[in-house]
Amino acid sequence: MDRASLEKKLKGVLSPLRYRHSLGVMNLARELAALYGVSPEKAALAGLLHDVAREMEPERLVAMAQQHGLALSESERSAPVLLHGKVGKLLLATEWGITDAEVLSAVALHVTGAPEMSLLAQIIFLADFAEPGRSFFSSHLARTLAKSNRVAALQYVFQQEINYLLNHGFVLDVSTVQAWNQLMINGDLHRGRLANDG
Ligand SMILES: [Fe+2]
Ligand SMILES: [Fe+2]
Repeated sequence: MDRASLEKKLKGVLSPLRYRHSLGVMNLARELAALYGVSPEKAALAGLLHDVAREMEPERLVAMAQQHGLALSESERSAPVLLHGKVGKLLLATEWGITDAEVLSAVALHVTGAPEMSLLAQIIFLADFAEPGRSFFSSHLARTLAKSNRVAALQYVFQQEINYLLNHGFVLDVSTVQAWNQLMINGDLHRGRLANDG
C-alpha cells in the first residue's frame, strides 16, 4: 500500500484528533530520525501508524492478543489499552501489509517502552509524547530535549509518564519499570533485539 492509501485507511479507524496526533508523530519522528541517523522513511511510517489499534474496544484488544497467542501480563489484563501497541503490530502485519520488523517493533513498544529498544523504537516513543499537537509544557520540553540529547529526553519522558501513572493510581507495566531501571543503572536503553516485543 502506498502512503496515501495508508493515510486514507488510517483516517477510517481513528478520530480526527488522533489522526492529527498521528501526523504530528510522523513528522517529528521523521525529523528525529535524520538527527539520530535512522531511516526517515521507516520513522515516518511507524509514526503514522503507531496508534492504529488505539481506538479498538478493550475486549477486542484482549481477544486479538489472545487469538495470536500473546501472553497477557497482569497489567495488560487490568488495563487492556496497554495492549494497543502489540495489537497494532499484529494488525499492521496481518491486515495492512507492513512487513518491516523494525517498524512493527517500534509500534509494539511505543506504549510501555522496554529495556531494549532500537533507535527507531526510541524515536517513536519520544515523538508520541513530544509531538507539537501535545500542548502541555512537558511535551514542549521533551521536544527540545529529543533534538539535543536523546538519553536525557528518554529519562524525562519515562519520568513524566511514570509520574502521571502514579499520580492517577494507574498500573505500571513491568516493561516501563524495566526501561526506567535500565536508564538509571546503565544510562541508556539497550539497542533492542526484535524478538522481545510481543
Ligand atoms: Fe499509543
Ligand atoms: Fe500516540
